[in-house]
Amino acid sequence: MEKIVIEGGAPLKGAVRVSGAKNAALPVIAACFLAQGTHRLKNVPHLKDVQTIKTIMSGMGVGFSEENGVLSVDTAEVSGYFAPYGLVKTMRASILLLGPLLARLGRAKISLPGGCAIGARPINLHLRALAAMGVDMFLDRGYINATVDRLKGAKIFFDIPTVTGTENILMAAVRAEGTTILENAAKEPEIVDLADFLRAMGAHIEGDGTDTIVVEGVKELSPAPEHSIIPDRIEAGTLMIAAAITKGSVSIEGCRPEHLAAVIEKLHSAGATVREMQNGLVVQGQDPIISVDIETMPFPGFPTDLQAQFMALMCIAKGSSVIRETVFENRFIHVSELRRMGAEIRIRGNQALVVGKERLLPAPVMATDLRASASLVLAGLVAEGGRTEVNRIYHLDRGYEALEKKFQALGASIWREKI
Ligand code: UD1
Repeated sequence: MEKIVIEGGAPLKGAVRVSGAKNAALPVIAACFLAQGTHRLKNVPHLKDVQTIKTIMSGMGVGFSEENGVLSVDTAEVSGYFAPYGLVKTMRASILLLGPLLARLGRAKISLPGGCAIGARPINLHLRALAAMGVDMFLDRGYINATVDRLKGAKIFFDIPTVTGTENILMAAVRAEGTTILENAAKEPEIVDLADFLRAMGAHIEGDGTDTIVVEGVKELSPAPEHSIIPDRIEAGTLMIAAAITKGSVSIEGCRPEHLAAVIEKLHSAGATVREMQNGLVVQGQDPIISVDIETMPFPGFPTDLQAQFMALMCIAKGSSVIRETVFENRFIHVSELRRMGAEIRIRGNQALVVGKERLLPAPVMATDLRASASLVLAGLVAEGGRTEVNRIYHLDRGYEALEKKFQALGASIWREKI
């Protein structure tokens, strides 16, 4: 086990490059099942979650190799369709294999993802849509057993815009018989990236990035020449907040400002200066940080995956801010850890009232989920007068590529230690 140790206080200064997006890489890797042959992917981040999906797919006969920054995924032979509990429980996004396996093999056996620190997170909408496409499913000892002769196009309305649900059905629909219409679909940039990848394979998709996606199924797809994963907007947002919280000045290279409009707007309101540059953004923190309210929303709203990090910023802002979480229930588990660092936060239902304090204090804290761990690292970057130790950082490694190294390069005193 490892922990991250931080001696806070230094304003971050310099330039940093954003890695490829975890949430785009996972569906794109799963989509490689849809066409027999070798796929070439660039800008795939080196993360625990990416390793997990590779391990599950390797167990199904898929070959992976990496050379000169290109990940080759060989799906010429697929011998299995089983995703075991031991791996799925560490990463809910394993459910993304369901649609592609059904399209390729007509069957899948995938462990039902269990409970999750940030809420119940069911997959009922994925399953309902697949049933409408002709899939037979039954649950046996915690596993979904799904079979279909040939997927059939259907008209699907999602009660809630679900990101992985939209991706799963999109991947099933591209090889289904006939037309599939996805209504109230999620609009996240990761869905557009997946649709771009599928189109390069020969799929017929229109409307991705809007709430209605129309897919004309085709019999066969062939591997795309090469696909580069979009930059990670959540990592970029985390780095932007880091610049603001430490009152530093950081150039965030390789990010796409159009994916970050809500975050840019809120950082402006909080007093930071955010400027676009040719290949990214420059964020300059200001003193004092001003309290602003946020409400998480599906894209293009403020992302739930940056709520915990923005809360860390509000902990040392002038005034009080109300943070409303509308995407997931129970996504305030980082609050009790932030309180251990001197934050004043009151929770009522899905709202947190954050009363800004002059400073945060160093403390040993425990990461509880992926984005919560990033918020504790940000808090540690400004907690002066001792060491902040963030434990259970395996959560952080699921979704951030060498985050402490990026902060080191920006002048922070932060390192990893074995426990
Ligand atoms: C994805 C992201 C995650 C992000 C989330 C919201 C990946 C791998 N993960 O998660 O980082 O926090 O989007 O932006 O891309 N819901 C149902 N039934 C379903 C599916 C979802 O009720 O079948 C609910 C969820 O409980 C939640 C809401 O819909 O309240 C949105 O969840 P969803 O968009 O599905 O999140 P994920 O795709 O799991």
